[in-house]
Amino acid sequence: MDDATFELMEAIKQVTGLSLTAEKTYLLESRLSDIMSDYSLSDFRELSRKFKNDPDEEFKEKVIDRVTTHETRFFRDESIFSALLERIIPEILERKRGKNPSIRIWSAACSTGQEPYSIAISIHERYPHLFKDVRILATDIAKETIEKARSGIYSTFEIGRGLTDSHLKKYFDPIGGGLYRVSEEIRSITEFKQHNLISDPYPDNFDVILCRNVSYYFDHQERKNLFNKIEKALNQDSFMILGSAESISEYSKSFIIREFGLCRFYELNPSNFTLFIKGA
Ligand SMILES: C[S@@+](CC[C@H](N)C(=O)[O-])C[C@H]1O[C@@H](n2cnc3c(N)ncnc32)[C@H](O)[C@@H]1O
Repeated sequence: MDDATFELMEAIKQVTGLSLTAEKTYLLESRLSDIMSDYSLSDFRELSRKFKNDPDEEFKEKVIDRVTTHETRFFRDESIFSALLERIIPEILERKRGKNPSIRIWSAACSTGQEPYSIAISIHERYPHLFKDVRILATDIAKETIEKARSGIYSTFEIGRGLTDSHLKKYFDPIGGGLYRVSEEIRSITEFKQHNLISDPYPDNFDVILCRNVSYYFDHQERKNLFNKIEKALNQDSFMILGSAESISEYSKSFIIREFGLCRFYELNPSNFTLFIKGA
């Protein structure tokens, strides 16, 4: 890897946490080529200098949007939705019995919004009486991505990735041109914000935090920091859900590992040692 590529990867890592290696050079080249020609930048050195020093926030936002991977779909990893509806929410309700019944969920690194909307739809289906007590905060580092999520507008292709016909009919309004918008009711419990998991202060007081398919882009220390900050953002009796290829075992001892069907999820553990409870 040449010095200019290394300099750019370091600059990106500092801002986003994204840990890139030499074999990802082609990815940077393909994702950043049109930005480089739009801004008449001749190489990665010029690009990284502009990224680090230029007060033009719009340029920085565009680079972040391009270098981050936004792959997602509705109801990605179905087993987490069963765990959420059949195990996590009932336990939260049980623990909150007699107290304020509201449930606060954070979908961190939510990409274009399919994850928080899938959560809202599944809660509406399973617990219609509870729906109005649920609040979902959905965040992502990438500006254009979070704006798309907030719009709630999806193409037929995106709809085809994970949604059933009955979900489409019930929870989306056709708006022409092959596009659909998430219904007002589903959007009403979901709030979208731009948020950087590496450098922004964390919101808190959550009953469930989903942070799926982002920690594997971070290095060891950033993962440790991430899980530490997530822990502080959670209520006392609360849960965390990661992507199926992610784990906290090496980074934190503050959670009990739980399983429900094919889903592994994490319960905040006040006694502070890692326990593995299968199917519990
Ligand atoms: C692969 S998507 C995962 C989307 C969704 N959670 C899912 O599992 O389907 C990863 C997302 O993480 C976001 N991301 C990357 N670095 C981030 C950071 N430092 N802070 C917040 N979000 C970040 C990216 O913009 C991208 O949208």
